Amino acid sequence: MTASSQTYQFQTAPQIIGGAGALGRLGEALRLDIPVRNALVMSQPSMFKQGFVTQVQSQLEKRGIVCAVIRDVMPEPTADHIRDLCGRFRDSRFDLIVGLGGGSALDVAKLISVLLTNEQDVEEMLGVDKVEKPGIPTVLIPSTAGTGSEVTPNAIVTLPDQELKIGVVSRYLLPRLVILDPLLTRELPHHHTAATGMDAFTHAIESYISNKANPISDTFALESIRLISRNILAAYRDGGDMAARERMLLGSMYGGMALTGSGTAAVHALAYPLGGKFNIPHGVANSMLLPHVMDFNKAEAGERLRDVAEAMGLEGASRNAEGVIRQIEQWTRELAIPQDLRTFGVSGEDVPALAQAAMKVTRLMQNNPRAMTVEDVEAVYRLLLP
Ligand SMILES: NC(=O)c1ccc[n+]([C@@H]2O[C@H](COP(=O)([O-])OP(=O)(O)OC[C@H]3O[C@@H](n4cnc5c(N)ncnc54)[C@H](O)[C@@H]3O)[C@@H](O)[C@H]2O)c1
Ligand SMILES: [Fe+2]
Repeated sequence: MTASSQTYQFQTAPQIIGGAGALGRLGEALRLDIPVRNALVMSQPSMFKQGFVTQVQSQLEKRGIVCAVIRDVMPEPTADHIRDLCGRFRDSRFDLIVGLGGGSALDVAKLISVLLTNEQDVEEMLGVDKVEKPGIPTVLIPSTAGTGSEVTPNAIVTLPDQELKIGVVSRYLLPRLVILDPLLTRELPHHHTAATGMDAFTHAIESYISNKANPISDTFALESIRLISRNILAAYRDGGDMAARERMLLGSMYGGMALTGSGTAAVHALAYPLGGKFNIPHGVANSMLLPHVMDFNKAEAGERLRDVAEAMGLEGASRNAEGVIRQIEQWTRELAIPQDLRTFGVSGEDVPALAQAAMKVTRLMQNNPRAMTVEDVEAVYRLLLP
């Protein structure tokens, strides 16, 4: 290996408890590692229905911890929703915030943790290193194998009036503890398994070809690609396949670790306006864009995409960028992910505004291995309006 031409850094969660049944170790972990008296649990209706909220609550209460619970964090949370939740707890004194659910619940838990210790509004935190002070310690417990949010310093906020999604990036968003229990993902419906799994795969592949890729992010990205490629269809077809579920959850966490070091790139930048303006779920937007952006990137990232092909287990004539793109297209068909933006109400007239919005996501655009002009971005969106 030749020496890297740039320096890099890597920082993630300090403690991870993993494996089927790991959720049962929450109370014990708190006793040993985090002294707590008052906790706030941020969760989603699906977690409550499946009994996981009660399971968390009873473990905390057994330790004498007083618990407040929010069961209805909205998917793809908006700034207003986050402000509203924060307003409800302004005068409370929590010493732990638990995020239990998909990326939306985890991101909200991370944001509430810093909003309650800072005088800032959520919109003042948007961007990199804008959060002024550390937050309340968090425990993050993912129930989708998708965002990897449990190990990233990022939280994504939807801004409907700007028709965009923007990230808060701060080391203060990293949790104290992660619990990675595949049993939580068993009932995740097929379409969410597909979309969130493809989000995780997008994190890994974008991290690997990012201009900021480095030896640490590469290691996590390739292992993430290896695990997700071999398990995404199995987890989709049979949600009860716990071996596939566990590997997907690990693949998703490794994808998060990869992007912590290297950032994602143009796929995510182009996906944000589709989420912000047309409410297209994050994973769906990413998987629609992924083959087309990789096709655009292959002129500059051909060699890296060959490594990706190898990690995916592609052989012979498929061990190259074309093979990767064909495989992704085949997955999107098998996972029943739409390939036409009209399904979500987008028309050709929307393309210029979408492209302008994507170009504003410079934090991610600058990571893309092949620079994109606004015309290039428009051309990619138009491929999804056949
Ligand atoms: N912070 C990060 O690093 C990061 C990275 C990528 C994406 N994101 C953000 O995360 C959000 C998306 O998160 P997501 O894709 O995990 O989905 P989500 O949290 O929005 O959940 C989607 C739906 O699935 C349901 N659900 C979740 N887990 C379930 C389970 N085990 N069983 C049944 N139903 C379940 C939820 O209740 C919800 O209705 C977006 O806002 C996206 O921008 C954050
Ligand atoms: Fe993502």
